[in-house]
Amino acid sequence: MKGKILVTGGTGYIGSHTTVELQNSGYEVIIIDNLSNSNIDVLDGIKRITGIKPEFVQGDCTDIECLENIFKKHSDIKGIINFAASKAVGESIAKPLLYYRNNLNTLMNLLEIMPKYGVKALVFSSSCTVYGEPDENPVTENSPIKAATSPYGNTKQICEEIITDYIKSGVNIKSTILRYFNPVGAHPSAEIGELPNGVPQNLVPYLTQTAIGVRNELSVFGNDYSTPDGSCIRDFINVVDLAKAHVCALDRMIENPECEPLETYNLGTGNGVSVMELINAFEKVTGVKVPHKIVGRRIGDIEKVWGNPNRANSILGWKAKIGIEETMLTAWNWQLQLRKKGIM
Ligand code: WQD
Repeated sequence: MKGKILVTGGTGYIGSHTTVELQNSGYEVIIIDNLSNSNIDVLDGIKRITGIKPEFVQGDCTDIECLENIFKKHSDIKGIINFAASKAVGESIAKPLLYYRNNLNTLMNLLEIMPKYGVKALVFSSSCTVYGEPDENPVTENSPIKAATSPYGNTKQICEEIITDYIKSGVNIKSTILRYFNPVGAHPSAEIGELPNGVPQNLVPYLTQTAIGVRNELSVFGNDYSTPDGSCIRDFINVVDLAKAHVCALDRMIENPECEPLETYNLGTGNGVSVMELINAFEKVTGVKVPHKIVGRRIGDIEKVWGNPNRANSILGWKAKIGIEETMLTAWNWQLQLRKKGIM
């Protein structure tokens, strides 16, 4: 075994896929999750894929005593991946204090605990929202950080600053900040995938639920943007590709002495894909039509943002490999599995 990793928010969408890749890579995973936006059955899905059911603690990372008990029990945890956070842009505007308390206190608790228990490596789940509406695309890690357009996006920026200042204070830890673009798709086994609570805010779950008939019609938020087909452009990255980048980041911090105390990477494909292109890719690869209509723009939407992943490619040794059509097929197979299980 390569050692123990604590994954906060590990029963969530990206956390569960990352747990699979950590186990595949030889790490032992312990998950803490408060199940506020995920289901405990995910643990069985992970086991059906890897044969290993991760140790699970139902708890809240804002409760430092709960967190610390994990480190008292497992004094040999080598690293932490922090996914645990509230992440709905719209909700953050309605409930800013919930977002600041949850997302910032979670991170600060982890940072405070790490030196006490000799935990050397922290991977922080950040987002391309820190770039706002970029002046130019693709964005690099040195592209300007723009004023956040939501409390959610602001918590990501503030957390990055907290990590930066903490490491500058001379504490003996390393951290890697991973700025995700738009994670989409599901594990090819269809044993785990994206399952948001209630009505999905993100594009792909709403699209697949429309395709299977749970939703009547997909609203495309605007086709009057200055893009080739008028719809917004994003860097949709396959969730399994994204998960593998976390293993590369941990390996580098734990094994590579050249790793800096703080490194930041864009995790994207480097390709911009429009909303309409994504819908077309889904229909082409599945043969299933997605009833959709063009409606007005959604407030706060970025017109176009996609990443330059060259640093991650060259330094992390990681590259996104799975294209948008194959990714849409995994999203559809996951939706079909949910239907087969009577979940949706
Ligand atoms: C993508 C595009 C919508 C729904 C957000 C967060 C980001 C990350 C991913 C957490 C936009 C359009 C969407 C729909 C649509 N979250 N759309 N109809 O807003 O790019 O990013 O989720 O890590 O931090 O900001 O993702 O999937 O909501 O939207 O037309 O029903 O799809 O307008 O252009 P977004 P999204």
